[in-house]
Amino acid sequence: MSFLKEIQRRRTFGIISHPDAGKTTLTEKLLLFGGAIQEAGAVKNNKIKKGATSDFMEIERQRGISVSTSVLAFNYKEKKINILDTPGHKDFAEDTFRTLTAVDSVIVVIDVAKGVEEQTEKLVAVCRLRKIPIIVFINKMDREGKDAFDLMDEVEQKLGLTVTPLSFPIGMGYDFQGIYNLWEQNINLFSGDNRKNIEETIAFSDVQNPELEKIIGQKPADTLREELELIDEVYPKFDRQDYLDGKLQPVFFGSALNNFGVRELLDCFVEIAPSPRPKESETRLVDPKEEKMTGFVFKIHANMDPKHRDRLAFIKIVSGTFERNKPYYHVRQKKNLKFSSPNAFFAEKKEIVDISYPGDIVGLHDTGNFKIGDTLTEGEIMSFKGIPSFSPEHFRYINNADPMKAKQLDKGIDQLMDEGVAQLFTLEMNNRKIIGTVGALQYEVIQYRLEHEYGAKCTYENFPVHKACWVKPDDAKNDEFKEFKRIKQKFLAKDKYGQLVFLADSDFTIKMTQNKYPSVKLFFTSEFE
Ligand code: G4P
Repeated sequence: MSFLKEIQRRRTFGIISHPDAGKTTLTEKLLLFGGAIQEAGAVKNNKIKKGATSDFMEIERQRGISVSTSVLAFNYKEKKINILDTPGHKDFAEDTFRTLTAVDSVIVVIDVAKGVEEQTEKLVAVCRLRKIPIIVFINKMDREGKDAFDLMDEVEQKLGLTVTPLSFPIGMGYDFQGIYNLWEQNINLFSGDNRKNIEETIAFSDVQNPELEKIIGQKPADTLREELELIDEVYPKFDRQDYLDGKLQPVFFGSALNNFGVRELLDCFVEIAPSPRPKESETRLVDPKEEKMTGFVFKIHANMDPKHRDRLAFIKIVSGTFERNKPYYHVRQKKNLKFSSPNAFFAEKKEIVDISYPGDIVGLHDTGNFKIGDTLTEGEIMSFKGIPSFSPEHFRYINNADPMKAKQLDKGIDQLMDEGVAQLFTLEMNNRKIIGTVGALQYEVIQYRLEHEYGAKCTYENFPVHKACWVKPDDAKNDEFKEFKRIKQKFLAKDKYGQLVFLADSDFTIKMTQNKYPSVKLFFTSEFE
């Protein structure tokens, strides 16, 4: 197959949702359709049920052994589908944000009864910012939930989207009869017990056809006709370009658990979802069709098996082909690296591959060369944009609890930060280290991993910070900036890239500081240019 065809047939995407909306179940059903797995229950739910560290450790251990869950790839209708796993737990939101830099589109899963939830709002906001094409899947139609129109209103208002339904439910909960597929114009009926089987589709291009009553009953048929009329009047016609530009979001309804409405979603997805898109670097826009390989690291996974201390760096290929044993240029480290065993991912396993294409994810064994955000090229000096750090929400001093193991502690902290587990800030004044995290859970994770992987012990101490603000003075030499640095010296730190950060204790302090030092700009993410 030609290089261009290989690019065009790739669909790399993420499924995002608030925990429990049905992301894992949907992923599994997509794999079933793709023939990638044979039975339900094969995909592990890596959810943290009680928020307990032991849960997390167990999950990490399982993942360490079978990291392939990070990327699930399969073929469907001649398309190569790559699903990137995104943790739903809010303490790992940063991990999900980073994964979103590597997807070309997303599917958002919403629970029909719960509607738009908090985590969905945050994740969709990031997708909108990046203009990532979004498809919405309203799940659990076999249960009583919100009215379909009300829910679409809620999606528009809370998520700031413009939706148009491409499938529509016939009834709901106890009365759920099936799905009218607006995209293919046919009806798919629900038998209530088709977790494994897919009911036959009844083609129905004209809903006025009196046969409809015979199949679904008079009242539901009347209701469906009215609803379809309303849809026609109220919602914009689906336009693929608008969807690709992030201006229009198609909506599908179904029940992932019962395997219902999933085929409609997948069939439409493979047709409309984008193949790998061009990506902005600091110097230029890189097109997937370019011959020379470029790619970037969006995730680093530690191997939790103590016998294998290496890590796996996940690279998204942006352009060209990635070949085994060919030297690539590590831009940050200014050196060439060769990889003898690059891994590609399939549904339940990983395998060494000779060649990968744009849109694919390659897993590279790493002994400490990579950081999240690193770029690989064939010699060009450039870096991909778009993996910013956000301000953490929790901040604590980290102290060494075993003076004999200071080196191990430093190494451990360094490596865990490279993996993106948390952010490290070093106070300017006294070089004390502060760990910033999105959730409290990470502190336990760090402590556990430092001890078990590096043999180092640490304790924490509270440090009352509300927000980390990245600092950029209009003029580093002016008196205002000098004054700012003098007055705020106790609260100034460097992040791991050496950027100056102001650790503010309240929103009020941030406002006061902005008023007092207008030429010193404060930013809430690390990437502000
Ligand atoms: P997540 O990855 O988004 O966190 O959600 P997950 O797929 O694990 O689904 C959360 C719960 O919702 C699961 O039940 C799952 O079986 C259920 N579920 C998913 N899709 C549907 C659906 O279409 N209809 C109904 N009625 N339920 C659905 P659980 O009891 O938490 O877990 P389990 O013990 O069944 O695995």
